[in-house]
Amino acid sequence: MKIGIYGGTFNPPHLGHMAAARAAVAALGLDKLLFIPAAVPPHKELPQETPPPEHRLAMVEKMADAIAMPKVVETSGIELERTGKSYTSETLERIHEQYPEAELWLLMGTDMFLTLHLWHDPETILRLAGICAFGRTQQDGEELFAPQREYLAEKFNARVTTITLPDLVDISSTRLRDLLARGEGREYLPPAVYGYILMHNLYGTHADLKHLDLPELRACSYAMMKQKRVPHVIGVEEEAVRLAEFWGADPMLARRAGILHDCTKYLGLEEQLALCGQYSLELDPLEQQMVKLLHSKTGACIARWVFGEPDEVYEAIYWHTTAKADMSLLEKIIYMADYIEPNRDFEGVERLRELAYTDLDKALLLGVETTIQEMEERRQPIHQKTIEARQWLRSHGVTTEEGT
Ligand SMILES: [Fe+2]
Ligand SMILES: [Fe+2]
Repeated sequence: MKIGIYGGTFNPPHLGHMAAARAAVAALGLDKLLFIPAAVPPHKELPQETPPPEHRLAMVEKMADAIAMPKVVETSGIELERTGKSYTSETLERIHEQYPEAELWLLMGTDMFLTLHLWHDPETILRLAGICAFGRTQQDGEELFAPQREYLAEKFNARVTTITLPDLVDISSTRLRDLLARGEGREYLPPAVYGYILMHNLYGTHADLKHLDLPELRACSYAMMKQKRVPHVIGVEEEAVRLAEFWGADPMLARRAGILHDCTKYLGLEEQLALCGQYSLELDPLEQQMVKLLHSKTGACIARWVFGEPDEVYEAIYWHTTAKADMSLLEKIIYMADYIEPNRDFEGVERLRELAYTDLDKALLLGVETTIQEMEERRQPIHQKTIEARQWLRSHGVTTEEGT
C-alpha cells in the first residue's frame, strides 16, 4: 500500500492544495492520501488571524471531501491533538506504526523541499518516507529541484521524486488571507470551504448572512453538506427554476429554496432536535424519531433565521418532504423539483417529469402516491400531512390515471 502524507497549516486550504493532492495521487499511484493539518509549525509562528485548530481541521475535511475521492483521501487530526510542536518525524513514526507495511510518501511544495535538510530530525523523515515535491508555479522547475534532490540522495539516501504541476492554481495562503479580508478570493477556494469561512467570519470576512449573493449562498449551503449531495442540490436548484419559469412562479425564490432545501440533511438526530427546540418547532411522535422528516423543518428555519429568506421560501422548504393540503405554487415546485431533478433515476421518473410540465397537480398527486406506496412497501409509517395532500388533490378532482 502506498500512502501520501500531505501536511501543512492549510490556512486556509485552497484549490492549489487540491490540485497538488490530485496530481500526487495520480503520479505516485497512491492508495491513500492523508491531509494532516499542523498545530504549530516548528519553523514559523502562525499569523494572528489563524483560526483555532478545530476550524482548520473542519476546513481541511471540507477540502478533502471536495476532492471527491472518498476511498482515497482522508484527513487526520493527529498533529492537532498532540500538544507542543508538530514535528514531521514524529508524525511519520506514528503513521509507520499504524501502517508498518506501507510505503510512505511525504508531499510538499518547493519552499519546504528546499529547506528539508534543516527540519527537525531529517534522518528519520527520510528513512521513513520518500519525498514528493511539487512546484507551485511553472518556474519552479528542474534547475531548482535537481541540486537539492542530489544533495538529499547523497547525504540521507533519500528517495525523491519531483512533479511540476501543469495547471496549478498559483495562490499563496498569505495572499489569499489578504484577499479574503477584502471580500475577495472566492475563486481560489472550493465552495464548501469558502462557505465555512463566511459562516464563521474567519480571516476578517464579515459576511451578512441575511444578504448573500447566489455564489455565497450556494457556498454556505454546500459547506453544511457532503460533496456527494451537491449534484442533487444543484439539480434541484436548476429544476426549480425551470418549473418556476414554466408555471409562472418567482424563479429567484425557487432558486434560493432549491439551494437551501437540504442544508440540514447531514445533521444527526440530536442536532436536529436541538434546532427544533431553538426554533420552537412542534413535532409529532413520528417526526421525533425520523431524522429524514426533520431536515425539511430545520432546513426551513435555517433558511429563514440564518439566511433571512422570506416566508415563501421557508414554507417551500418546510413541506418539501411530506407535502400537505393547500400547497402554494412554489411549494409544489420545490416538492416536484426534488422528485424529478436530472440526477434522479428510478422507475417512473420519466412519467413524473412529463407530468410536471403538463399538469403540475397530477404530477404532485403521482409523487405523493409514489411516496405512500414506497413507505407501505418498506413497512414504514406514512406522515399524516402526506395523506392529507393526497386527499386534498383527489377532492379537487385530480387523478393519476392516464389520459384523464
Ligand atoms: Fe430533502
Ligand atoms: Fe433533496
